[in-house]
This record gives sequence, structure tokens and C-alpha cells, in this order.
Amino acid sequence: MSRRTFLAASGVAGAAAGTGLLSACSSGTKTTAGANGAPTELEVFSWWTAGGEKDALNALVAVFSQSNPHVEFINRAVTGGAGANAQALLAKRLAAKNPPDTFQAQAGAMVGDYITAGQVEDLTFLYQQQGWDKQFNPQVLKLIQRDGKYYSVPVDIHHINVLWSNIALCRSLGISTAPKTMTEFIGNLKKVKAAGKIPLAVSRDPAQDWQVKHIMETVLVSTLKADDWAALWKKGGNWNSAKVSTALSTFHEIMGYAPGTGAQYTSWDQVSSLVGNGAAAYQIMGDWTEANFAVTLKLTGNIDYTWAPVPGTQGTFLFAADCFTLPVGAKDREASVAWLTTCGSQTGQDDFTSVKGAIPPRSNISADERDLFDPYLQWSLDQWHSDIIAGSLTHGVVASGAWNTAIDQAVIGYLKDNSIQTLQNALVAAAAKYQV
Ligand code: GAL
Repeated sequence: MSRRTFLAASGVAGAAAGTGLLSACSSGTKTTAGANGAPTELEVFSWWTAGGEKDALNALVAVFSQSNPHVEFINRAVTGGAGANAQALLAKRLAAKNPPDTFQAQAGAMVGDYITAGQVEDLTFLYQQQGWDKQFNPQVLKLIQRDGKYYSVPVDIHHINVLWSNIALCRSLGISTAPKTMTEFIGNLKKVKAAGKIPLAVSRDPAQDWQVKHIMETVLVSTLKADDWAALWKKGGNWNSAKVSTALSTFHEIMGYAPGTGAQYTSWDQVSSLVGNGAAAYQIMGDWTEANFAVTLKLTGNIDYTWAPVPGTQGTFLFAADCFTLPVGAKDREASVAWLTTCGSQTGQDDFTSVKGAIPPRSNISADERDLFDPYLQWSLDQWHSDIIAGSLTHGVVASGAWNTAIDQAVIGYLKDNSIQTLQNALVAAAAKYQV
């Protein structure tokens, strides 16, 4: 039995994330631990509510509860893929100086925003105590540092440039589940369309624009490759180049095979269920969707669905890393530090990532540890070690929140008017305003 199957079946994954409150004591009786005799509470803010995410969160809580049985876990997860709603609500709480005890953020520019705003505490003491500076992947460590100090604790690494597909549908149409180039991919999409199925599943609801932005960034990486992609986020990076225009035309062509998924299928997990049930052939999505296929939809990798790099991105691992923070003014600092200690621990990361559809952010994964992971995750681990690493736009690595919001507006505009020229102009204007 794989670790994931075990954790999902053991009730850990089925525990009470949806109820909003999960008592850490299995008996339901709270022990008292706070100085004043009150139970200690830990308010954890995230956007993990959908297919596989909540199961993974519960797996992490189970590890936490083992060493902190007196702490009551309060789940403040806010629905909305990629944190679309959570981040707005969190910003209001932080502005009102009413932070949760810890909140989810993404390594890179997003954590940088919180550091600049003085909203998160320096966690270097915890890194020194736990030896994490020697254990975590150096590329991830770089993204959570400022002036040599560490400001968050990574719990996973997600793979962003993944093409998911329905094996039976692709086989019946004689098309590859792993097209090598965008030209081949577009040819396949054409065949799916002719067969009356959805070629590329993505919501066209403006409230879900991040799904489209996610596709757009993978197509940009496919055309530009890692170095030119990285240059776009630095001063002087040229959003008006012929290469960006070519990438955006390819993106536009692909979107011509993404008719939308209707009001019943808007969230990323609903959209991927269309690939799962064979109504759609492909989805471009991060690997949290693997947990949705395997844990929630109970499908089998390499039998029902499969994965490949987005065409043209072979050799590049576009990534994001979820982290937790210690907010300035957290009500229960001690409980937060205990949570962060679990997030950085090997058991916490293994139990969480094997259910989440992600890999641990540690440098060395032993052979025993590797066995905990299913075939998709073992593939992702291999890619992480052999590929060139590039940071995700949609998932907080390369652009500040303000820049990301400007790009959201550009994508929403594109969804309305279908004009690739207007899209590029808006992207150029956003870069001019936010490039540093
Ligand atoms: C990403 C996040 C993942 C996953 C996904 C969909 O931004 O890194 O952990 O939750 O959003 O909600």
C-alpha cells in the first residue's frame, strides 16, 4: 500500500477539514496547556479546500497533533484555487492587524511582499535550531531569504508545467499523451475537436482566470525557454519581443481549442474531473491535480490518466513551493513555531507531499523515502533533480502580488475580447510599471 493510499484510507485524509475545526485530541477532550489553563489554539490560514488539498492538510495536521496533542487546530482554509480568494481576505486581516497564527504563502516574490510589508517574522533561529539551512534545497532557500535571514518554512515543491491527459480518449483517437512540440499538440487538439470532445479543459470564467494564466505561462516557457523566461522578470526584460509575440500567438491558437467547461465545472478540480471521465482529452495544470485524480477521483495513474511535460518544456521544471509563516502579532506564537517545526520536518513533509501531489523541498531524498511516493511523484522527483529550474508566475515565485494582479487584468481582458495584441500591450505596460 502506498503512503498516500494508507494516509487517505486511514481516516487522516477523511478527517474534519471541511468542518472548519479539527480537535487535535482523538478522544475529543481538550487538555489544557496555556499558561492561563486555556487550551492552546492554532489558527492556520490556507487555500487548501479542494480535491486532495484538504486531505494533504489533514495528513500534516495528524503529524502536528502527535507531538502537540494539547493544541486545537483551527482550519481557516478559504475556497478558491491558487489562493484567489484567500489572499484578498488575508490582506484585509493583515491590514487590520488581526493575523492568523500562520498563513500559507509561496516561496519567491510572494513571501518577498510580506517581508517588505513587515508582516512576517524572521525565522532564522528555527533554521539554526533544526539545521534546515543544510537540509532544504538551496534554490528554494534562496527564495525565502532576505539579507541572509529566513522568513518562511517550505512544505512542498509543486510541478507547474504538466500536461495531463485521458489515456483511453487519446488512444481511441490515435493521438499521443506526450506530444513533443506545440505543433504536434495543436494537431492533436484538432483531432479531439473533430471527435466532438473538449480538447483542452480550462474554465473561461473570469473569476478563474488563474487557470488561463497558468496555461499562458507554460506556453511562454515552452517558446522562450528558462533563461529568457527568467529575464522577463528583471529590469530590461523585453515583453515586446518577437519571441513573446510568437509565444502569445501559440497560446491564442491553443485557447481556440479550449471552449470552456461551463458553470458546473469551474474550479480546477472540477475541470480535471472532465479529463478523468473522458469528456476532455487534456488539461495543463500543476500537480496538485494528480492528488485529485488519485485521491479524490480514485483513478489510477498510467491506466486512466497520465502526465508529460507541457510540449516544448522538456528539461525545464517550472515550480512553486508552498510555505508557512510566522505573522507579526500572531496570537499564539508558541503554537505557530510548533506548526512550522512540523512543516519543516521530514515526516511532516513526507506525509503531506505524498498526499498533496507534490515532492518534499529537501535536498536529499533517501531510497526508503522515495518508496513512499507513487509513480507520478517519483517521475517528478527525477525531473526536479535533472531539469533546469524555473519559477512560476501564477503561483507566486517570479512576480510581486501587484504585478500578478495586473497580469490577471490582462488575462481577463483577453478572455473578454480575444485580442492577442491587446493582451501583449497590457503585459508590456504591466512590466513597465512593476519590473525592478
Ligand atoms: C497553488 C498552490 C497549490 C495548490 C494550487 C491550487 O497556488 O501552490 O498548493 O493548492 O494552488 O489551489
